[in-house]
Amino acid sequence: MTAPILSATPDTIARAADILRRGGLVAMPTETVYGLAADASNPRAVARLYQAKGRPRFNPLIAHVASLDEARREGTFNRTAETLAAKFWPGPLTLVLPVVPQHSVCDLARAGLDSIALRRPDHPVAQALLEHFGGPLVAPSANPSGRISPTRAEHVAADMAGLVDLIIDGGPCRAGIESTIIDVRTERPMLLRPGSLKREALEQIIPSLGEQCEASNQPRSPGQLLRHYAPNAALRLNAKAPREGELYLGFGDCGGDLNLSPTGDLGEAAANLFAHLRALDQQGRPIAIAPIPMSGLGEAINDRLTRAAKRD
Ligand code: TXA
Ligand code: MG
Repeated sequence: MTAPILSATPDTIARAADILRRGGLVAMPTETVYGLAADASNPRAVARLYQAKGRPRFNPLIAHVASLDEARREGTFNRTAETLAAKFWPGPLTLVLPVVPQHSVCDLARAGLDSIALRRPDHPVAQALLEHFGGPLVAPSANPSGRISPTRAEHVAADMAGLVDLIIDGGPCRAGIESTIIDVRTERPMLLRPGSLKREALEQIIPSLGEQCEASNQPRSPGQLLRHYAPNAALRLNAKAPREGELYLGFGDCGGDLNLSPTGDLGEAAANLFAHLRALDQQGRPIAIAPIPMSGLGEAINDRLTRAAKRD
Protein backbone atom coordinates (compact mmCIF):
# COMPACT_ATOMS: atom_id res chain seq x y z
CA MET A 1 0.00 0.00 0.00
CA THR A 2 1.32 3.44 -0.82
CA ALA A 3 0.45 6.44 1.33
CA PRO A 4 -1.83 9.10 -0.13
CA ILE A 5 -0.23 12.46 -0.93
CA LEU A 6 -2.73 15.21 -0.15
CA SER A 7 -2.37 18.94 -0.58
CA ALA A 8 -2.37 20.94 2.63
CA THR A 9 -6.04 21.88 3.08
CA PRO A 10 -7.81 22.23 6.46
CA ASP A 11 -9.43 18.84 5.77
CA THR A 12 -6.04 17.22 5.26
CA ILE A 13 -4.72 18.76 8.50
CA ALA A 14 -7.73 17.42 10.43
CA ARG A 15 -7.28 13.97 8.91
CA ALA A 16 -3.54 14.03 9.67
CA ALA A 17 -4.15 14.99 13.31
CA ASP A 18 -6.59 12.12 13.58
CA ILE A 19 -4.06 9.64 12.16
CA LEU A 20 -1.46 10.92 14.64
CA ARG A 21 -3.86 10.53 17.58
CA ARG A 22 -4.35 6.91 16.60
CA GLY A 23 -0.58 6.30 16.62
CA GLY A 24 0.01 6.73 12.87
CA LEU A 25 2.84 8.40 10.93
CA VAL A 26 2.39 11.56 8.84
CA ALA A 27 4.98 13.24 6.62
CA MET A 28 4.71 17.01 7.00
CA PRO A 29 6.51 19.91 5.34
CA THR A 30 8.62 22.24 7.47
CA GLU A 31 10.75 25.20 6.40
CA THR A 32 13.89 23.01 6.54
CA VAL A 33 13.07 19.50 5.23
CA TYR A 34 10.03 17.19 5.31
CA GLY A 35 9.61 15.55 8.71
CA LEU A 36 8.05 12.20 9.58
CA ALA A 37 5.73 13.09 12.45
CA ALA A 38 4.44 10.90 15.29
CA ASP A 39 2.75 11.58 18.63
CA ALA A 40 5.74 12.28 20.92
CA SER A 41 3.88 10.98 23.97
CA ASN A 42 3.01 7.60 22.43
CA PRO A 43 5.85 5.04 22.72
CA ARG A 44 4.20 2.66 20.24
CA ALA A 45 3.92 5.35 17.59
CA VAL A 46 7.52 6.39 18.26
CA ALA A 47 8.70 2.77 18.03
CA ARG A 48 6.97 2.50 14.65
CA LEU A 49 8.73 5.68 13.55
CA TYR A 50 12.19 4.31 14.44
CA GLN A 51 11.29 1.14 12.57
CA ALA A 52 10.05 2.96 9.45
CA LYS A 53 13.27 4.97 9.22
CA GLY A 54 15.56 2.09 10.17
CA ARG A 55 16.97 4.48 12.75
CA PRO A 56 19.13 3.28 15.64
CA ARG A 57 17.17 3.67 18.86
CA PHE A 58 20.04 5.34 20.69
CA ASN A 59 19.50 8.33 18.43
CA PRO A 60 17.00 10.75 20.00
CA LEU A 61 14.34 12.71 18.07
CA ILE A 62 13.46 16.41 17.98
CA ALA A 63 10.11 17.30 19.58
CA HIS A 64 8.26 19.96 17.57
CA VAL A 65 5.98 22.34 19.42
CA ALA A 66 3.24 24.83 18.54
CA SER A 67 4.33 27.50 21.03
CA LEU A 68 6.95 28.58 23.50
CA ASP A 69 4.58 27.70 26.35
CA GLU A 70 4.30 24.16 25.07
CA ALA A 71 8.10 23.99 24.85
CA ARG A 72 8.43 25.19 28.46
CA ARG A 73 6.24 22.28 29.58
CA GLU A 74 8.85 19.86 28.18
CA GLY A 75 12.24 21.50 28.71
CA THR A 76 13.79 23.78 31.33
CA PHE A 77 14.61 27.10 29.74
CA ASN A 78 17.56 29.03 31.18
CA ARG A 79 18.30 32.66 30.26
CA THR A 80 20.20 31.77 27.09
CA ALA A 81 17.43 29.45 25.92
CA GLU A 82 14.81 32.15 26.53
CA THR A 83 16.84 34.70 24.58
CA LEU A 84 17.42 32.35 21.66
CA ALA A 85 13.77 31.28 21.50
CA ALA A 86 12.59 34.90 21.65
CA LYS A 87 14.88 35.82 18.77
CA PHE A 88 14.80 32.76 16.51
CA TRP A 89 11.49 30.94 17.10
CA PRO A 90 9.57 30.04 15.11
CA GLY A 91 12.53 29.03 12.98
CA PRO A 92 15.24 26.53 12.11
CA LEU A 93 16.86 26.37 15.55
CA THR A 94 16.70 23.29 17.80
CA LEU A 95 17.49 23.76 21.49
CA VAL A 96 18.78 20.90 23.64
CA LEU A 97 17.60 21.48 27.23
CA PRO A 98 17.18 19.52 30.47
CA VAL A 99 13.86 17.65 30.35
CA VAL A 100 11.31 18.74 32.98
CA PRO A 101 10.18 16.08 35.49
CA GLN A 102 6.53 16.09 34.28
CA HIS A 103 7.23 15.94 30.53
CA SER A 104 4.90 14.36 27.98
CA VAL A 105 7.54 13.39 25.40
CA CYS A 106 8.17 9.69 26.00
CA ASP A 107 11.52 8.21 27.01
CA LEU A 108 11.92 6.31 23.75
CA ALA A 109 11.68 9.55 21.74
CA ARG A 110 14.50 10.98 23.89
CA ALA A 111 16.51 7.73 23.70
CA GLY A 112 16.26 7.61 27.48
CA LEU A 113 18.24 10.82 27.98
CA ASP A 114 17.53 13.42 30.63
CA SER A 115 17.71 16.08 27.91
CA ILE A 116 15.26 17.03 25.17
CA ALA A 117 15.66 18.66 21.75
CA LEU A 118 12.89 21.19 21.01
CA ARG A 119 12.02 23.19 17.94
CA ARG A 120 9.15 25.43 16.88
CA PRO A 121 9.00 25.23 13.08
CA ASP A 122 8.33 28.26 10.88
CA HIS A 123 5.96 26.70 8.37
CA PRO A 124 2.20 27.30 8.16
CA VAL A 125 1.37 23.62 7.55
CA ALA A 126 3.58 22.28 10.34
CA GLN A 127 2.17 24.93 12.69
CA ALA A 128 -1.43 24.19 11.75
CA LEU A 129 -0.88 20.47 12.30
CA LEU A 130 0.81 21.04 15.68
CA GLU A 131 -2.01 23.31 16.82
CA HIS A 132 -4.70 20.96 15.62
CA PHE A 133 -3.01 17.95 17.19
CA GLY A 134 -2.54 19.78 20.47
CA GLY A 135 0.78 18.36 21.73
CA PRO A 136 4.42 17.81 20.77
CA LEU A 137 5.20 15.83 17.61
CA VAL A 138 8.53 14.13 17.07
CA ALA A 139 9.68 14.52 13.48
CA PRO A 140 12.99 13.30 12.11
CA SER A 141 13.67 13.96 8.45
CA ALA A 142 11.33 11.73 6.42
CA ASN A 143 14.00 9.56 4.79
CA PRO A 144 15.50 6.15 5.55
CA SER A 145 18.22 6.61 8.17
CA GLY A 146 21.52 7.73 6.62
CA ARG A 147 20.12 8.73 3.22
CA ILE A 148 19.41 12.08 1.53
CA SER A 149 16.84 14.24 3.33
CA PRO A 150 13.58 15.05 1.49
CA THR A 151 12.73 18.61 0.45
CA ARG A 152 9.62 17.77 -1.60
CA ALA A 153 6.61 15.52 -1.05
CA GLU A 154 7.69 13.39 -4.05
CA HIS A 155 10.98 12.61 -2.31
CA VAL A 156 9.08 11.23 0.68
CA ALA A 157 6.80 9.21 -1.59
CA ALA A 158 9.80 7.72 -3.40
CA ASP A 159 11.66 6.74 -0.20
CA MET A 160 8.96 5.89 2.32
CA ALA A 161 6.14 4.40 0.25
CA GLY A 162 4.15 1.95 2.35
CA LEU A 163 5.81 3.10 5.58
CA VAL A 164 3.77 6.25 6.27
CA ASP A 165 0.01 6.72 6.55
CA LEU A 166 -0.25 10.14 4.90
CA ILE A 167 2.04 12.61 3.12
CA ILE A 168 1.02 16.27 3.26
CA ASP A 169 2.24 18.14 0.19
CA GLY A 170 3.28 21.67 1.12
CA GLY A 171 5.51 22.25 -1.91
CA PRO A 172 9.32 22.54 -1.82
CA CYS A 173 10.95 23.40 1.51
CA ARG A 174 12.17 26.98 1.70
CA ALA A 175 15.50 26.43 3.50
CA GLY A 176 16.35 22.91 2.29
CA ILE A 177 18.80 22.02 5.08
CA GLU A 178 17.95 20.83 8.60
CA SER A 179 17.76 23.04 11.66
CA THR A 180 20.84 24.19 13.55
CA ILE A 181 21.11 22.30 16.86
CA ILE A 182 22.65 23.82 19.95
CA ASP A 183 23.03 22.42 23.44
CA VAL A 184 22.30 25.25 25.86
CA ARG A 185 22.63 23.23 29.09
CA THR A 186 26.24 24.21 29.68
CA GLU A 187 27.58 27.63 30.54
CA ARG A 188 29.22 27.67 27.15
CA PRO A 189 26.54 26.58 24.64
CA MET A 190 27.69 24.01 22.07
CA LEU A 191 26.89 23.81 18.39
CA LEU A 192 25.89 20.15 17.79
CA ARG A 193 24.87 20.46 14.12
CA PRO A 194 25.37 23.39 11.72
CA GLY A 195 22.13 24.06 9.87
CA SER A 196 19.76 26.55 8.32
CA LEU A 197 20.24 29.15 11.04
CA LYS A 198 23.66 30.64 10.31
CA ARG A 199 26.44 30.49 12.91
CA GLU A 200 26.96 34.25 12.47
CA ALA A 201 23.38 34.89 13.67
CA LEU A 202 23.90 32.70 16.76
CA GLU A 203 27.26 34.26 17.55
CA GLN A 204 25.65 37.65 17.87
CA ILE A 205 23.98 36.30 20.98
CA ILE A 206 26.58 33.71 22.02
CA PRO A 207 30.02 35.03 21.01
CA SER A 208 31.80 32.06 22.62
CA LEU A 209 29.76 29.31 20.92
CA GLY A 210 31.54 25.98 21.48
CA GLU A 211 31.86 23.06 19.12
CA GLN A 212 31.08 19.49 20.10
CA CYS A 213 34.17 17.40 19.65
CA GLU A 214 33.52 14.35 17.39
CA ALA A 215 34.44 11.59 19.82
CA SER A 216 32.88 12.97 23.00
CA ASN A 217 29.43 13.69 24.44
CA GLN A 218 27.03 10.87 23.78
CA PRO A 219 24.75 10.78 21.94
CA ARG A 220 26.25 11.80 18.67
CA SER A 221 23.67 13.25 16.28
CA PRO A 222 23.25 11.54 12.91
CA GLY A 223 24.51 14.90 11.74
CA GLN A 224 27.70 13.90 13.50
CA LEU A 225 27.91 10.39 12.12
CA LEU A 226 30.56 10.45 9.47
CA ARG A 227 28.51 8.87 6.70
CA HIS A 228 25.08 10.41 6.39
CA TYR A 229 22.86 12.20 3.83
CA ALA A 230 24.29 9.67 1.38
CA PRO A 231 23.46 9.12 -2.30
CA ASN A 232 24.39 5.84 -4.02
CA ALA A 233 26.88 7.55 -6.31
CA ALA A 234 30.47 8.33 -5.29
CA LEU A 235 30.96 12.06 -4.63
CA ARG A 236 34.14 14.07 -5.28
CA LEU A 237 34.16 17.43 -3.50
CA ASN A 238 35.89 20.75 -4.28
CA ALA A 239 36.12 19.79 -7.95
CA LYS A 240 36.93 22.70 -10.27
CA ALA A 241 35.74 20.63 -13.24
CA PRO A 242 34.32 17.14 -13.88
CA ARG A 243 36.55 14.28 -14.98
CA GLU A 244 35.66 11.84 -17.77
CA GLY A 245 32.46 9.98 -16.86
CA GLU A 246 31.53 12.23 -13.93
CA LEU A 247 28.40 14.35 -13.62
CA TYR A 248 29.05 17.88 -12.38
CA LEU A 249 27.10 19.75 -9.71
CA GLY A 250 28.11 23.37 -10.18
CA PHE A 251 27.97 26.48 -8.00
CA GLY A 252 28.30 30.01 -9.40
CA ASP A 253 29.30 30.64 -13.00
CA CYS A 254 30.97 27.26 -13.63
CA GLY A 255 27.94 25.65 -15.32
CA GLY A 256 27.42 21.95 -14.60
CA ASP A 257 24.82 19.26 -15.34
CA LEU A 258 22.91 20.95 -12.52
CA ASN A 259 23.91 24.11 -10.68
CA LEU A 260 23.18 24.83 -7.00
CA SER A 261 23.04 28.56 -7.67
CA PRO A 262 24.31 30.14 -10.90
CA THR A 263 24.53 33.50 -9.11
CA GLY A 264 26.50 32.05 -6.20
CA ASP A 265 23.69 32.58 -3.65
CA LEU A 266 24.25 30.22 -0.68
CA GLY A 267 20.56 30.36 0.39
CA GLU A 268 19.50 29.17 -3.05
CA ALA A 269 22.24 26.51 -2.98
CA ALA A 270 21.01 25.18 0.39
CA ALA A 271 17.44 25.02 -0.88
CA ASN A 272 18.55 23.07 -3.99
CA LEU A 273 21.18 20.82 -2.40
CA PHE A 274 19.24 17.63 -1.58
CA ALA A 275 16.92 17.80 -4.63
CA HIS A 276 19.88 18.23 -7.01
CA LEU A 277 21.84 15.41 -5.34
CA ARG A 278 18.83 13.11 -5.74
CA ALA A 279 18.33 14.06 -9.40
CA LEU A 280 21.99 13.44 -10.31
CA ASP A 281 22.12 10.24 -8.24
CA GLN A 282 19.36 8.78 -10.41
CA GLN A 283 21.68 8.86 -13.42
CA GLY A 284 23.96 6.24 -11.85
CA ARG A 285 27.30 7.99 -12.46
CA PRO A 286 29.88 9.46 -10.06
CA ILE A 287 29.28 13.10 -9.15
CA ALA A 288 31.88 15.87 -8.91
CA ILE A 289 30.86 18.92 -6.89
CA ALA A 290 32.15 22.47 -7.27
CA PRO A 291 33.82 24.19 -4.28
CA ILE A 292 31.33 25.90 -1.94
CA PRO A 293 32.56 28.79 0.24
CA MET A 294 32.50 28.17 4.02
CA SER A 295 30.81 31.46 5.00
CA GLY A 296 27.19 31.70 6.18
CA LEU A 297 25.08 28.74 5.03
CA GLY A 298 28.18 27.34 3.31
CA GLU A 299 29.16 25.77 6.64
CA ALA A 300 26.01 23.61 6.76
CA ILE A 301 26.19 22.80 3.02
CA ASN A 302 29.83 21.67 3.34
CA ASP A 303 28.96 19.69 6.49
CA ARG A 304 26.27 17.72 4.61
CA LEU A 305 28.47 17.22 1.54
CA THR A 306 31.43 15.96 3.58
CA ARG A 307 29.26 13.35 5.28
CA ALA A 308 27.50 12.40 2.03
CA ALA A 309 30.89 11.83 0.36
CA LYS A 310 32.25 9.42 3.02
CA ARG A 311 32.55 5.81 1.94
CA ASP A 312 32.34 2.92 4.45
O1 TXA B 1 15.17 20.63 10.53
C1 TXA B 1 15.09 19.67 11.27
O2 TXA B 1 15.61 19.64 12.40
C2 TXA B 1 14.29 18.45 10.76
C3 TXA B 1 12.84 18.88 10.58
C4 TXA B 1 11.95 17.75 10.15
O3 TXA B 1 12.37 19.50 11.74
N1 TXA B 1 14.42 17.32 11.63
C5 TXA B 1 15.60 16.62 11.73
O4 TXA B 1 15.52 15.53 12.59
O5 TXA B 1 16.62 16.92 11.15
P1 TXA B 1 16.61 14.36 12.59
O6 TXA B 1 16.01 13.29 13.45
O7 TXA B 1 16.96 13.99 11.20
O8 TXA B 1 17.80 14.97 13.38
C6 TXA B 1 17.65 15.21 14.78
C7 TXA B 1 18.97 15.45 15.42
C8 TXA B 1 19.81 14.21 15.50
O9 TXA B 1 21.13 14.57 15.12
C9 TXA B 1 19.74 13.83 16.98
O10 TXA B 1 20.85 13.08 17.40
C10 TXA B 1 19.67 15.19 17.61
O11 TXA B 1 18.78 15.89 16.78
N2 TXA B 1 19.11 15.16 18.96
C11 TXA B 1 17.84 14.91 19.34
N3 TXA B 1 17.70 14.93 20.68
C12 TXA B 1 18.93 15.22 21.18
C13 TXA B 1 19.45 15.39 22.49
N4 TXA B 1 18.68 15.25 23.57
N5 TXA B 1 20.76 15.68 22.60
C14 TXA B 1 21.55 15.81 21.51
N6 TXA B 1 21.12 15.67 20.23
C15 TXA B 1 19.83 15.37 20.07
MG1 MG C 1 17.94 13.40 9.27
